Amino acid sequence: MPSRILLILVSCALSVVTGLVIARGGAGVAAARQRPLIGLSMDTLKEERWQVDRDLFTAQVQAAGADVLVQSANSNDAVQLQNVESLITQKVDALVIIPHDGAAMAKAVNLAHQAGIPVLSYDRLITDCDLDLYLTFDNVKVGELQAKFLVDRIPAGGKLRLIRIYGAKTDNNAKLFKQGQDNILQPLIAAGKVEVIFEDWAEDWKPESAKKITNAAITKNGPNFDAILASNDGTAGGAIQALTEEGLAGKIIVTGQDADLAACQRIAQGTQAMTVYKPIKSIATQAAELALKLAQGKPIIARDAVANGKTDVPSILLDIVTVTKENLRGTVVKDGFRKESDVFQSTQP
Ligand code: BGC
Repeated sequence: MPSRILLILVSCALSVVTGLVIARGGAGVAAARQRPLIGLSMDTLKEERWQVDRDLFTAQVQAAGADVLVQSANSNDAVQLQNVESLITQKVDALVIIPHDGAAMAKAVNLAHQAGIPVLSYDRLITDCDLDLYLTFDNVKVGELQAKFLVDRIPAGGKLRLIRIYGAKTDNNAKLFKQGQDNILQPLIAAGKVEVIFEDWAEDWKPESAKKITNAAITKNGPNFDAILASNDGTAGGAIQALTEEGLAGKIIVTGQDADLAACQRIAQGTQAMTVYKPIKSIATQAAELALKLAQGKPIIARDAVANGKTDVPSILLDIVTVTKENLRGTVVKDGFRKESDVFQSTQP
């Protein structure tokens, strides 16, 4: 009998919904091999965070006595599909996918399922398929924290003029970040307290694309704006390059996400105002543990469910933190994610 994921929803007294995921197929396959084998298919290693994700994930799988194969697709859907096919051919017991294009990777999930391999969608959702598990941060909340930071800085009696730079259109997260930002901004836009003077999507999250968007906004409107709502640190970096060329860096409030080292340094220097810290150690180590459970057919508790167009995917959402100049030490440094000497290096005389 083809094994199927069962999602058993249990309502607790406090009406918290608890999902119990029982993995497909993995246990039988793993039994034939000494050590379970986990496949990790990544969109890209371009942003600094993904290298950290890969290293922590790999270390955790290996520490648990299993093996891991990692492939990265360089933001190319055809390459990512080939990567997944190759991992399936190498008979991985569970697959972890960080999709470049959440819709395009549904095909990869279907192929894995035909081979009896369970799939965990990591950080980004794979849409329109019968996905087994989704582990991510609270992405809507990321957008809300970014926008909240800006609306808290609306000048008294005035309005905040804003450039909005969204992420890659192919990334479901980019839409969720925008949704969270909209939740906070829309009422203030309607009240005339926030004005969006320019907005666009950065192709594949490229800093160069964010720089072009900022250049275009300045060409169209001049330097008369207060903030750039950049959706991650990479795009914030591109935007700040454009501001630097115009002599505006440090005068405009710029948001971000990921607590990249370069962004933490910019926050220390004052050219970027905030980032959102998503503890990569939590997602990477939990993904490794969950992938092993999927591989071994062990039960998993998933308290949330996220609709992906085809099904309600059992999901685990991790929490996040706003980082500013005031709390850099108390957050990313304290957590061991960044070294104080690295973050503040460039601010020393
Ligand atoms: C991730 C961000 C990352 C962006 C670009 C998003 O899906 O959630 O952390 O900055 O992709 O790689």
